Amino acid sequence: MAKPIVDEDVCIGCGTCESICPDVFKLTDDAKAHVQEADYEANKDEIQESIDACPVNCITWEE
Ligand code: F3S
Repeated sequence: MAKPIVDEDVCIGCGTCESICPDVFKLTDDAKAHVQEADYEANKDEIQESIDACPVNCITWEE
C-alpha cells in the first residue's frame, strides 16, 4: 500500500495538510508535519489533496 512521506527539511509547517487530512498528517512541536499510522487507502483522496495543496511540494507518495 502506498504511504505518504513528508520531507521534513522542506516542510514549513503551514498546517494545510493537517487541516485537509488530520487522520494522517499531524504537526508537532517542531512545526513539521509527521505522517501518522493510518488507513492510507481510505484517506487517499485527502492525502492527494494535501499533496496538491502543500505550498512547498514536500509531500510525496512512497511506493
Ligand atoms: Fe508542511 Fe506542506 Fe503540510 S509545508 S505542514 S507538509 S502542507
